[in-house]
Amino acid sequence: MFAAIAPRYDLLNHVLSLNVDRRWRRFTVRQLRPYLATPEAPVLDLCCGTGDLALELARQTLVIGVDFCRPMLRIGQAKIARRRARVLLVEGDALCLPFPDDLFSAVTVAFGLRNLESPARGLREIHRVLRPGGIAAVLEFSRPWLPLFRHVFLFYFRNLLPRIGTWISGVPGPYDYLRDSVQAFPDQRQLARMMEDAGFKAVRYINLTGGIAALHLGEKPG
Ligand SMILES: C[S@@+](CC[C@H](N)C(=O)[O-])C[C@H]1O[C@@H](n2cnc3c(N)ncnc32)[C@H](O)[C@@H]1O
Repeated sequence: MFAAIAPRYDLLNHVLSLNVDRRWRRFTVRQLRPYLATPEAPVLDLCCGTGDLALELARQTLVIGVDFCRPMLRIGQAKIARRRARVLLVEGDALCLPFPDDLFSAVTVAFGLRNLESPARGLREIHRVLRPGGIAAVLEFSRPWLPLFRHVFLFYFRNLLPRIGTWISGVPGPYDYLRDSVQAFPDQRQLARMMEDAGFKAVRYINLTGGIAALHLGEKPG
């Protein structure tokens, strides 16, 4: 599915979110800044796709990006080369990472956790590769909390977004999947609980754009 939409993935992200997705990624990096001050420990960006979050992080530190979809990685690699950014891409499965325990100072995953066969297992794998005192950041679609705004947004998300996505990508299916997977994904509180169950402490979340997305943060106990 991701291979099919890879050529238009970036364009659709920016069109469908009216460019707000860029702000969400920049905000994520700003929240992580205190944890990125240790240059000896690289940051892992899971489900990195075409590399937009990895590229933002790379302004601060060395980043390793992992994704299992080669066409997404190829587009990411071209962007990294153009910007000469400090990002290494690895083709791999987020549920079975080719890294030892306790390695990374931070692990990020943007709009990826929802797509894993088992998000709970994905969180445990993130916890395993984080070093003690490190931080996990999960940026994901969530639930708008303001009732009127939620209704307007849900109308757009359920009815317009899949049509625009299918039209621009030329691929039927993935943007219906986006709608359905977001609606089936845990809300802010449920995801925070899942992170605690995976072993994270000091779990908190920040609603973005009224809760359309949320950034969850959690630390691996030192
Ligand atoms: C919606 S994209 C998000 C890409 C990027 N993080 C962003 O913010 O635009 C989800 C990505 O997760 C990847 N993915 C899904 N399941 C995966 C898994 N088990 N292991 C590695 N990558 C996975 C897909 O290939 C896809 O590139």
